[in-house]
Amino acid sequence: MSDEPVVLGIETSCDETGVGIVAGGRLLANTLASSADEHARYGGIVPEIASRAHLAEMLPTVKDACRSSGLALSDIDAVAVTSGPGLAGALLVGVAAAKGLALALDKPLYGVNHLSAHVAVDTLVSGPLPPNSVALLVSGGHSSLLHVRDVVDDIRPMGSTIDDAAGEAYDKVARLLGLPFPGGPPLDAAAADGDPAAIRFPRGLTAPKDQAAHRFDFSFSGLKTAVARWVEQARADGRPVPLADVAASFQEAVADVLVAKAVAACREVGADTLVIGGGVAANSRLRQLAEERCADRGIRLRIPPPDLCTDNGAMVAALGSLVVARGLPPSDARFGADPGMPVTLTVDP
Ligand code: KG4
Ligand code: ZN
Repeated sequence: MSDEPVVLGIETSCDETGVGIVAGGRLLANTLASSADEHARYGGIVPEIASRAHLAEMLPTVKDACRSSGLALSDIDAVAVTSGPGLAGALLVGVAAAKGLALALDKPLYGVNHLSAHVAVDTLVSGPLPPNSVALLVSGGHSSLLHVRDVVDDIRPMGSTIDDAAGEAYDKVARLLGLPFPGGPPLDAAAADGDPAAIRFPRGLTAPKDQAAHRFDFSFSGLKTAVARWVEQARADGRPVPLADVAASFQEAVADVLVAKAVAACREVGADTLVIGGGVAANSRLRQLAEERCADRGIRLRIPPPDLCTDNGAMVAALGSLVVARGLPPSDARFGADPGMPVTLTVDP
């Protein structure tokens, strides 16, 4: 075992209870418990259910992480925890657990930013990030374009969604097509047999008039409404709804906008690396289109494997590890959950 500090990371911002252990740039454990199944019948995340599930799963998940890394708790040198952004009650469970752990072990504690952690996790797979990169984070809770000058202390927001997150759009459209929650995977699968050019759905905030105020922002609620109207009209006319074509056309509209804006953001700041993270990064069409367009423009594309794209503890440990290596001070013992934590703040002071 090297003498790199061992950092344990805890993630509870949404419905995944994640615990990761990282030393230097090496991932030693990444264990996860998810309450996704408990939310399925409500068609979306129920915060109270998520918080209770975190409470139930926290200790077993920490123990699993230690077991799978072959480490004892006494081997941990620092603890990192997502302090925001996310669901307040869910964050509180992780923050309280991390405080207890750090106090008992007498080790430093870092409250870190969930979005920065989505970017940092990629360094476990592809090594240090070039100093001038762009990140596209797309999940059920966020859709952001970030200018990452330095993942530890210089991330600037370029744009974000002005209504639904990309994953939320997937979940809502899946629901209106009768597919289960979360809607991304079944919609992605349904789209495989469809024609992406069958229906021309709108590309939100891409009109010339949107360029001034919303060049790097996203909007998916108009797209969702357009799909709903199209399906309603088909049903009213007594036509069968061509599920595969609707799914493929919707997916094309989402991927087209995400990739177009991400590539434009790279051009804007002169970045030659694009990182994509968040649950929607698992989407087959998004990956394919991003690969094509990045290759055309000489942009290096970095997308972590799916289990590191969705919420997990490794991302928090990865960011914690970079923060420790940089020598930043730990968070004040009084830090709390910060549901609206800005991405410009990597570590809660
Ligand atoms: O990052 P994540 O696990 O949790 C947060 O929301 O923070 O992302 C979950 C989201 C869900 O909305 C889900 O439908 C979407 O990611 N998703 C996908 C795919 N797999 C998961 N969306 C599109 N295509 C997929 N293959
Ligand atoms: Zn996330």
